[in-house]
Amino acid sequence: MNTTQNAAIHSNAVITAIGSYVPERILTNADLEKLVETSDEWIMQRTGIKERHIAADNQFTSDLCFAAIRNMMERYDVSVTDVDYIIVATSTPDAVFPSVASQVQSHFGITSAGAADIQAACAGFAAAIQLANGLLLSRAHRKILVIGAETLSKITDYTDRTTCILFGDGAGAFLIEASEDGHGDVAAVYNKTDGTRGHLLYRSSLASAIGEHDIHTNGYIVQNGREVYRWAVSHVAEGVQQLLERSGHSAADIDWFIPHSANMRIIESLCERTGFLLSQTLSSINLYGNTSAASIPLAIDEAVKAGTVKPGQLMLLYGFGGGLTQAGVILRWSL
Ligand code: UT7
Repeated sequence: MNTTQNAAIHSNAVITAIGSYVPERILTNADLEKLVETSDEWIMQRTGIKERHIAADNQFTSDLCFAAIRNMMERYDVSVTDVDYIIVATSTPDAVFPSVASQVQSHFGITSAGAADIQAACAGFAAAIQLANGLLLSRAHRKILVIGAETLSKITDYTDRTTCILFGDGAGAFLIEASEDGHGDVAAVYNKTDGTRGHLLYRSSLASAIGEHDIHTNGYIVQNGREVYRWAVSHVAEGVQQLLERSGHSAADIDWFIPHSANMRIIESLCERTGFLLSQTLSSINLYGNTSAASIPLAIDEAVKAGTVKPGQLMLLYGFGGGLTQAGVILRWSL
């Protein structure tokens, strides 16, 4: 039996609509200069982030999901009342339960849908697309909402200059449906997790959760930035190569590379190591910061709204982060 789980795959999943939302309030580098000892120059040079959007005190991840879905419905004239499954990728749910996905079900009065949140940190959106493809292919479901959404500002320590400059809030949504003729947009997937490095990036909550490494219990994001950076430029670059190899494509066949928007320097380094040009790379880092599970759909939607992404083009989406986890998808854009 061939046990390779990451080979080119079957798909009947078609993306039929996209939407996104970011909260109104903008936190600039100048604002951060007033909170911690930092500078616009340092932040721009080391991360490429100019500003990020921050949810209001009474605005939660579910609210961002509702707004992204409304945006999608307005732009594409689609209904969600007949959706039969909802997946929300998030590390910042309003509550551990009920799931954000069940809040989406209730808010839009979707009467016959299942719903679940998945938590794969910054790899969450790519992982959610993979799950949706499997559910559609198995014929268990036929119309799925996939949302990546975060309110990272609520778990960011604004006294820690090594993390507070990075994170922002936002949401992006795809509507994914089973095609009539059996053709699908998802061409290949790749997953790899290294739990031995979990302590390098975590949200502290249960002190025992990551053993001797967890010395913080305040509920904030804790990161060893330098080590995560090193891991990203080597292991993530290797993962992107693996995904390309297993899909039978080379970087030259791919129209758009959409790595998780963690840091512009990481993106540049990934491009150098994998053969993608910066001009074919979509990112949401500059204006939105690191929005974890929302960063990939935000980057794609910006390009869709600008008209730069065209139907028929091949995209490589690659999420990476807490876990440490990687998840990638190659898909053909059909909108
Ligand atoms: O999305 C999930 C995955 N996460 C990531 O991919 C994040 C990966 N890591 C990073 O993006 C980078 O490591 C950071 C942006 C977090 C930090 O950049 P860096 O170039 O790795 O900086 P560093 O940690 O090596 O620190 C360099 C210096 C230090 O000072 P000394 O020890 O050299 O005197 C820091 O104390 O920069 C200092 N520093 C700052 N200075 C001004 C750290 N944060 C700041 C700051 N402003 N905000």
